[in-house]
Amino acid sequence: MEWLTQISPMRAFSARARRAAQRVGLVPTMGALHEGHLSLVRRARDQCDLVVVSIFVNPTQFGPTEDYRRYPRNAEQDVKVLGPLGVDAVFAPEAGDVYPPGFDTWVEPGPEAEPMEGESRPGHFRGVATVVLKLLNIVQPHAAYFGQKDYQQMVVVRRMVSDLNLEIDIVVGPIVREKDGLALSSRNVCLKGEDRKAARVLSCSLKKAETLAASGERDAEKIVAEMKKIFAAEPRAQLDYAEIVDSESLQSVKQLGPGSVALVAARVGPTRLIDNTILEIT
Ligand code: PAF
Repeated sequence: MEWLTQISPMRAFSARARRAAQRVGLVPTMGALHEGHLSLVRRARDQCDLVVVSIFVNPTQFGPTEDYRRYPRNAEQDVKVLGPLGVDAVFAPEAGDVYPPGFDTWVEPGPEAEPMEGESRPGHFRGVATVVLKLLNIVQPHAAYFGQKDYQQMVVVRRMVSDLNLEIDIVVGPIVREKDGLALSSRNVCLKGEDRKAARVLSCSLKKAETLAASGERDAEKIVAEMKKIFAAEPRAQLDYAEIVDSESLQSVKQLGPGSVALVAARVGPTRLIDNTILEIT
């Protein structure tokens, strides 16, 4: 497994692959890898000749009061878990190389970036879209792999790839959960003691939405009200939003339709978590 920290060797790696007609898959990450990331890596391994994992905690997607400095970093452990999966290269650039002095060109995503995370974290998706475009330009993959856990991010990235005519397949992997339902996230290591138990509230509220939808409830407002009750019963959790939206536009819906998505964000102790589920309508 090659460990590349500079942009030009990364480009050279991809140029060699393209000359050899090898399909390159990129799994973009911010490190602190967990089974959710690894499931994307395995999928890329199955579908591509060469797999690149990028590890870069992107400063521009964190707001000034957010947890950029505290974001979990564990490069040694990341290398250990990637080795056995047959990853060909890890691209782990320095922030100063991704954003050299004078850098000032940004990707401004469209309306999908406005609600939910966009409201709670102004500028977040501008930072995400900009770094993802940079990574795609540097690594030049044929396919890039994202997790459904960051549903809104996935929609923003898919839209950017389509709007900017990038010839890259965006592959989305399912959410991987702990036994008790908690969605895997790098931030879960920050959940200490009782907060870990309380964090179940996110997946419990989504389960409630799934159950109501499966039993025929179509009124999104009623379902959201039930989801909120579950948060209200957990004093350690501070709900940021609970929404049911259209899967493409991410606009709130009044009535559930095919592909409606329920999304939640909450702070549990000091840790902000997000989760979602696609509501099956039969
Ligand atoms: O999902 C993430 O880990 C990040 O937002 C990403 C896509 C690697 C961009 O920094």
